[in-house]
Amino acid sequence: MKQEMNKYTKKDEWVWNTLFRRQHDNLKQKGCKEYLNALIDMRDVLNANSIPNFKNLNNYFLGKTGWQIEVVKGLIPVEDFFELLAKKRFCSSTWLRSPENLDYLEEPDMFHDIFGHIPLLSHPVFSDFAFEFGKLGNKYIQNKDAIIALQRLYWFTIEFGVIRENESKAYGAGIISSFGETNRATSNTVKITDFDIEQVMNKNFRTDVMQEEYISIYSFDELFSSIEKADKFLNKKRYELEHY
Ligand code: CO
Repeated sequence: MKQEMNKYTKKDEWVWNTLFRRQHDNLKQKGCKEYLNALIDMRDVLNANSIPNFKNLNNYFLGKTGWQIEVVKGLIPVEDFFELLAKKRFCSSTWLRSPENLDYLEEPDMFHDIFGHIPLLSHPVFSDFAFEFGKLGNKYIQNKDAIIALQRLYWFTIEFGVIRENESKAYGAGIISSFGETNRATSNTVKITDFDIEQVMNKNFRTDVMQEEYISIYSFDELFSSIEKADKFLNKKRYELEHY
């Protein structure tokens, strides 16, 4: 599948521009510095003025961390998704929400996938984390429990993670691409818990409401080093399953 630039309408352009400007503004105080720096560096290929062309984004990434966009229609099986991550391919849809539904989404659209996920993949350590995460997914692809544990890790980091600077800042794409969730995740009233790999891999999540709790890291290095621990944890669990 490919992105067809000539299929976008004036309405789509309006939606992209409106969402980009509103969230860009909102994130100045609430987005993590790594994300904001990535946006600045990508401004020629990712900005409010036009719907991003995936070809240009892919070219940008060739000179950076090597990620490429894989166009998908909608959600795909998690096993396929992990397999693509392990090849440094990140899935994105090409459609945009309607002007009537700027803040409500049943499935991730291109604003979520591109504005939310893509910029941080240019950060070397975050990129390595996502890549190693994909490889771990591949390794345990036959093991349903392990896949669930890894989905949780993905959810509480790549989708809804926050990072401590002076205050909590957003880095997860589910937050970054949502006006309401950005305000919620960076407010003083919400529950924020320090990242612990085993806790996260045992923690259920809900996809139908705004998050009640966010998991906070101190640095992307912390995320990266959690991969090895996750592997050990899953290995131990597999061992237990085989022996009892
Ligand atoms: Co996402």
